[in-house]
Amino acid sequence: MDRLNKISMKYWNKQPCNIKHSKKKFLSKDYFNEISKKRYFVEPHIKDFANFKNYKNKNVLEIGFGIGTDAIEFLKSGANYFGIELSDRSFDITKKRIELFKFTSNSTLINDEAENLDHYFTSKHNFHLIYSFGVLHHSSSLTKCLKIIYKLMNKNTICKIMLYAKNSYKYFLMKENLIRYEAQKGVPVIDFYDHNDIKMVFKKFKIVDVQQRFIFPYKIKQYKKNQYIKLNHFKYMDKKIFNTLERNLGEHLLITLKK
Ligand SMILES: C[S@@+](CC[C@H](N)C(=O)[O-])C[C@H]1O[C@@H](n2cnc3c(N)ncnc32)[C@H](O)[C@@H]1O
Repeated sequence: MDRLNKISMKYWNKQPCNIKHSKKKFLSKDYFNEISKKRYFVEPHIKDFANFKNYKNKNVLEIGFGIGTDAIEFLKSGANYFGIELSDRSFDITKKRIELFKFTSNSTLINDEAENLDHYFTSKHNFHLIYSFGVLHHSSSLTKCLKIIYKLMNKNTICKIMLYAKNSYKYFLMKENLIRYEAQKGVPVIDFYDHNDIKMVFKKFKIVDVQQRFIFPYKIKQYKKNQYIKLNHFKYMDKKIFNTLERNLGEHLLITLKK
């Protein structure tokens, strides 16, 4: 494993993504259900983007599954799920989560870096979907990962990747040190992309769609206690205007690709 991914792994082992989103008994069904509920309430665009229901009996590969919230949705929809995750702590939590919800027989989990995907998978796996949400901008080599992903795809594979947007409300605030961190403070490896970068980075792929979504509108202290109170400038903003801002300045670039 290269040096940057090692540093990254340490970070994600210390704070697996969304691990504090429930105060219920750690690793219980209630704990995981609350984590899922929070995720899709705060980030409803994930369900539209991932389109979980579309993959019944289909082969889905997820890169960087974290604590397995989206994995469970794919599995609930009847997908044959394959996933790879760098952090061994996140891997262990997802393994337990999948066992708890009795989806073990439909899933294959790998604990390794995405840069080694081709050690485990080939195009013969016939993936209908290769999915990665909020991960590859943390990898030490996006180019290497994309080369492998491209090789794993066939003409029917859909690839859906979320990367952080440079042209975003969050990024502008971050540059001015005005950012309020709802998550991921001090993350060691991170990149941001704009629409031109996307054309360059994915030049081998057919870019089917690129959408921008997600501005975080809540007060952090209350959000951490699962209370959703908007900051005044968002509370009084017309919904149409907020949606327009999200489509133009959202922090999530939702990229859909084919071969
Ligand atoms: C922001 S979290 C997102 C997790 C999950 N996709 C979600 O949306 O909740 C980033 C995840 O990517 C994983 N990750 C970072 N670099 C990786 C790499 N090179 N290969 C595989 N996973 C990686 C981290 O361990 C972490 O679980």
